Amino acid sequence: MRGRPGTRESGSEAYAAGGGDASPNNGGQMNRVLGKTAIVTGGASGLGRAIAVLLAREGAKVVVTDVNKAGGEETAAFIRKAGNEALFMKHDVGKERDWAKVTDAAVKGFGRLDVLVNCAGVFLASSIAELTLEKWRWVMSINLDGVFLGIKYGSQAMARFGGGSIINISSAGGIVGTSDSSAYNASKGGVRLLTKAAAIEFSKAGHDYNIRVNSVHPGVIETPMTAPLINDPEGGKEMANWQPMGHFGEPDDVAYGVLYLASDESKFLTGSELVIDGGWTAQ
Ligand SMILES: NC(=O)c1ccc[n+]([C@@H]2O[C@H](COP(=O)([O-])OP(=O)(O)OC[C@H]3O[C@@H](n4cnc5c(N)ncnc54)[C@H](O)[C@@H]3O)[C@@H](O)[C@H]2O)c1
Repeated sequence: MRGRPGTRESGSEAYAAGGGDASPNNGGQMNRVLGKTAIVTGGASGLGRAIAVLLAREGAKVVVTDVNKAGGEETAAFIRKAGNEALFMKHDVGKERDWAKVTDAAVKGFGRLDVLVNCAGVFLASSIAELTLEKWRWVMSINLDGVFLGIKYGSQAMARFGGGSIINISSAGGIVGTSDSSAYNASKGGVRLLTKAAAIEFSKAGHDYNIRVNSVHPGVIETPMTAPLINDPEGGKEMANWQPMGHFGEPDDVAYGVLYLASDESKFLTGSELVIDGGWTAQ
């Protein structure tokens, strides 16, 4: 993907794409989230890794969480190697008891909590006819329950420090339906509306927590999650044909949107949905 006109060569992109030997890149740092502490779930891989690396590069102290211990520790080590601050915690977003430990670790480790990026997620390809209730519930337990628990525990921790920003990674598939991915579509559509409900509840008109809540809706981005779909000889070609811009997205395309929502630059945004899909849902 690199070398395409307009492609950014940031350290986070190079690393998120799997280039584990990429040198940490602090070039172009503008401290857009300096002084903030962020939790990024799903930070061991793909979008979560790119988001964690970019937030740290822009001045945030980052708690990287994931069920994948090796990958999460690698992300945190990469951030520290670049001279920034990060710690890793093993964390299953669907388990309520894990959440209190993670928010406590952020506050104990870095003194406060300002930003939560609910990025951990799973995809399941299945027709409705073949989808079992067990598999449906598995997707929901991570993609939707995980975001609900994150909002619940994250907001309580942030409220102690005067407010913050919660960013929920939904999907273009949370706005439009796609074949053979009903559980994923439903979970991501749920994240979209849960985001709006929380945004109102935490605003001045609600319980006045001073917490902004927004969702991000990526199209097809090249990560380990989409690799099997993109590399499928038939399905991959079909997916490529849906892309108005003629190519898939890169993890940093999403990370830069998250950086904006995490920073005070977006102080008048809440309950909004940031679509980063190369025009897919504009069709
Ligand atoms: N890649 C895309 O095209 C795309 C598009 C739209 C939305 N998204 C969403 O972006 C998010 C990140 O996806 P990605 O493409 O980086 O995928 P990925 O598979 O590379 O990363 C997902 C991460 O979530 C972690 N995870 C899974 N279950 C977990 C759990 N129960 N608790 C904690 N961590 C868990 C995995 O270990 C992995 O590190 C997901 O929510 C996904 O649905 C991705």
